Amino acid sequence: RKRVAILISGRGSNMSALIEAAKAPDFPAEIVGVLSNRAAAPGLEIAAANGIATASLAQSKFLSREMFEDTMTQLLEGWEVDFVCLAGFMRILGEDFVNRWMGRLINIHPSLLPAYKGLHTHERALADGVAEHGCTVHFVTPGLDEGPAILQARIPVLPGDTPETLATRLLVEEHRIYPEALRLLATGTARL
Ligand code: GAR
Repeated sequence: RKRVAILISGRGSNMSALIEAAKAPDFPAEIVGVLSNRAAAPGLEIAAANGIATASLAQSKFLSREMFEDTMTQLLEGWEVDFVCLAGFMRILGEDFVNRWMGRLINIHPSLLPAYKGLHTHERALADGVAEHGCTVHFVTPGLDEGPAILQARIPVLPGDTPETLATRLLVEEHRIYPEALRLLATGTARL
């Protein structure tokens, strides 16, 4: 089984979906570590309760983003990971880190990329009056939210939807496609 680390900043519901999926004996990857840039991220406790190694690193404690990211790479190398999954990791990663892990680094983003890169995707989709919204699991490349998609899921925008209702319905799809995308990556079916 491939060794996978998950990078989080908060709640960790996508992380939990990956952890649960990886419990199946036929899943091609195991989650060996969870790293957060916030010590207070609730997802860290969930990971620890599942017997997974955890670590947190505050970027503010480092002199530069490069030093912060080099330390992340050292931790990931210590866990001997094959792949890294960003799951609600709310820091933009620098080019050195991305290049170091390119092809082995994926992210989930709450929009139908290339639409709505960046933040506040549900608000912006609703403001535009789109009929469909969705989520994307994609390879991470140096341009923000620009790497090739591995899987997408679509949902209809319903009358009366708010950013919250849309986010809640979309999260169900995120939790479905992220484990599927990791399966494709770990088996070599999806490649950059
Ligand atoms: C998820 O909706 C994820 O798609 C989004 O943050 C949420 C994290 O929730 N990611 C981004 O916006 C990345 N720019 P989670 O911590 O419960 O998985």
